[in-house]
Amino acid sequence: MSTSNVVQRDPAIRVMLLPKDTNGYGTIFGGAILSHLDLAGAIEAGKHGACRMVTVAMNRVAFIAPVFVGDVVSFYAETTRVGNTSVTVFIEVEAGRADGSDMIKVAEAEVVYVAVDEGGKPISIGGVKV
Ligand SMILES: CC(C)(COP(=O)(O)OP(=O)(O)OC[C@H]1O[C@@H](n2cnc3c(N)ncnc32)[C@H](O)[C@@H]1OP(=O)(O)O)[C@@H](O)C(=O)NCCC(=O)NCCS
Repeated sequence: MSTSNVVQRDPAIRVMLLPKDTNGYGTIFGGAILSHLDLAGAIEAGKHGACRMVTVAMNRVAFIAPVFVGDVVSFYAETTRVGNTSVTVFIEVEAGRADGSDMIKVAEAEVVYVAVDEGGKPISIGGVKV
């Protein structure tokens, strides 16, 4: 029996992008990717226990290759830092083309989320007021 050294990653989310997500050139609008990026990062940040997390910063956003209608796009999220009230998540975005060719990396970003109370004030990740 053969074994593989390839590590399988589970995406936080995977979506197919549609004509409603296109820009004036017919490729996918960067804002549509950003929206899903933010959602994927929030799912990852939410694993740290705080019930209410808001986005405070999107850093180092890079759009590396175009995304086309019909691409299946995967958003892989990994926590890179847990602070007092904030969680930093690195997200890589890969597109699977409709023609079945290899997945290619199309975008990446670092997104920072802050745990907040009902009043929108930062609280510690464990849920304690700071
Ligand atoms: C998030 C928010 C509550 C933070 O308030 P604040 O007064 O700046 O809070 P603080 O200065 O105490 O910082 C809180 C944490 O965020 C981090 N932070 C603040 N601004 C940051 C920035 N621009 N980049 C990275 N981290 C940042 C701080 O380092 C701190 O982290 P730590 O506690 O882990 O050390 C406030 O900015 C806010 O409500 N923003 C709007 C959020 C929102 O509505 N997002 C949705 C998109 S519109």
